[in-house]
Amino acid sequence: MLVRILYVSRAAGPQTGTVTANILAAAQAYNSAHGVSGVLCQGQGLYLQVLEGERGEVNRLYAHLLQDRRHHDVQMLAFDEIGQRRYPDWSMAHVSLPDDDAMIRMQHPEFDPYSATGAFVLQLVDELLAGGHRITAPAK
Ligand SMILES: Cc1cc2nc3c(=O)[nH]c(=O)nc-3n(C[C@H](O)[C@H](O)[C@H](O)COP(=O)(O)O)c2cc1C
Repeated sequence: MLVRILYVSRAAGPQTGTVTANILAAAQAYNSAHGVSGVLCQGQGLYLQVLEGERGEVNRLYAHLLQDRRHHDVQMLAFDEIGQRRYPDWSMAHVSLPDDDAMIRMQHPEFDPYSATGAFVLQLVDELLAGGHRITAPAK
């Protein structure tokens, strides 16, 4: 059974290139070995991550992520059983959300993932991906 999780969290420290590179390296190796695909959006002190795969795998990974001290205030925004993957080609795509992104600000001036619906945040993740906001992770 395939499921998809969407969560938001706050970065524990500055979201530097080194922190990001470390997270992505671990994510891409682990996820492709365990059939997990998804997207990690980061910026403005936040992480938004979509994880999809077999229910057991996704739950195991999520439980592990909760322990990671590089982020906190982890809140699950959506958990869905899915018929097919939304991001089959990404072991972990990475979208950077620059602090001064005028387009995002204009379209979503009051964006706060902690109070938005899961459906809305998922749509935003798709917009960011479609908008080509510095996607740096290779396909699986
Ligand atoms: C925001 C965020 C997203 C992460 N996403 C993943 C991921 O998709 N897959 C993964 O294996 N590790 C991910 N990690 C890293 C794991 O939390 C963990 O560091 C990694 O699995 C290595 O485990 P270990 O530190 O117990 O050796 C993420 C970490 C953070 C802070």
